[in-house]
Amino acid sequence: MSVAPLPPFDPHDPRLLSDPYPLFQRYREQEPVHWSETAQSWILTRHHDIATVLRSPGLDPASVLAFSEAVAARIGRSWPALQAFIDAILFLDATPGHRQARRLLAATLNARPLSEYAPMIAGVAEEMLAPLADERQYDVVARFTDPLPFRVMCRIMGVPDAVGDHLYAISRSVLRLFNFVVGVREMDEFERWLSIAFEEIARLVAERRRAPRQDGMTRLMQLARDEDGVDDRWLHSRILFLVLVGAETTSAFLASAIRHSLDMPGIRAAAAGPGPLQPVVEELLRLDSPVILAARRTTAEITVGGRPIPAGSGIIPYITAGNRDPEAYAEPDRFQPGRAGPGNLAFGEGAHGCLGGALARLEARVALPAFFARVPQARRVEATDDWVPLDTFRRLSRLPIATD
Ligand code: HEM
Repeated sequence: MSVAPLPPFDPHDPRLLSDPYPLFQRYREQEPVHWSETAQSWILTRHHDIATVLRSPGLDPASVLAFSEAVAARIGRSWPALQAFIDAILFLDATPGHRQARRLLAATLNARPLSEYAPMIAGVAEEMLAPLADERQYDVVARFTDPLPFRVMCRIMGVPDAVGDHLYAISRSVLRLFNFVVGVREMDEFERWLSIAFEEIARLVAERRRAPRQDGMTRLMQLARDEDGVDDRWLHSRILFLVLVGAETTSAFLASAIRHSLDMPGIRAAAAGPGPLQPVVEELLRLDSPVILAARRTTAEITVGGRPIPAGSGIIPYITAGNRDPEAYAEPDRFQPGRAGPGNLAFGEGAHGCLGGALARLEARVALPAFFARVPQARRVEATDDWVPLDTFRRLSRLPIATD
């Protein structure tokens, strides 16, 4: 039987959000290392290739954003706040400063045992769920899965709720920065938002200089005090980055986990507890990883899946594809907590692997049973999924439910 030729891979294909798995399966079977003209990159869909590339030292992280040269030349001059924010995005940082920043941010997050955050997360979940007690219908994304991780990150870092609410609004718009194409008007918009955010954070940092507190912001300031190259711009932009990266990813994951639970009674029973939740959370991360890809650029020739790829090439490992590779996981589309197979790729791997995986997992272990304890009868009121149009994150824009 002849196999239909592969269509050109389009990183904007709406199916990458709605249902990427059949498409990835075709690429994985026919050309697991595939050149995409549109993305100007090699597309990877096999678990083994993706894990190998992410762990390999011969690659730098890369933005998928196709800045034109004219835009790139203007960015620092025309959008200084945006430039400061981009410089702080650790998973795009290919400079020697990455190791220092990674060490300081990890030490900030790990300064307290993770278990100490559990009561705070449960309290935040309750703050979100209590006002919903009498509502018969609401959007879980807007009322629960979006605000919860945001507030958790703000509590960890010491950002007061009023400022947090403001950053929350900014966060939604800045996500578009991770698309393949961003227009100049959007850059202007990001600049406006980010300038305001930096002013707010500068005020909080100044307050802590006068009176240190027991919070993540003070901790990072203390850790960074004697480090080379750390100035206020560094500090403000890293604080903002940490809050946004910790919140946006976990929001997307919680919404996806609740969606799966509402769609499949077996998943709901497992996610509601009281059985062991960690294998359930891990399997939900594998089934639908919110971070779609982790773009890289080769610094030397590298062979992937038997194909030599020259230095200076773009490579896009599609995490969502690797996590459903049947070579790695038997019957990969099935929910099977505790299944055999390699660790899933949801948090990336290697030098840029996620610093917040343990926190995100803890949030899910607390938030999912808290949600289903409050609304055991919850059911979806829309059969179709509505995704935020993004190229690198898979994020539901809403998930309306009825609670009776
Ligand atoms: C379910 C939730 C989360 C998912 C799926 C996720 C996923 C990822 C992935 C795939 C990367 C690697 C990107 C790359 O290699 O290009 C990453 C990096 C990172 N994540 Fe997460 N993340 C989550 C939650 C968090 C949280 C809660 C925090 C912080 C509190 C966090 C902080 C970071 C940081 C700082 C990096 C950059 C590390 C580096 O470049 O050295 N993440 N995350």
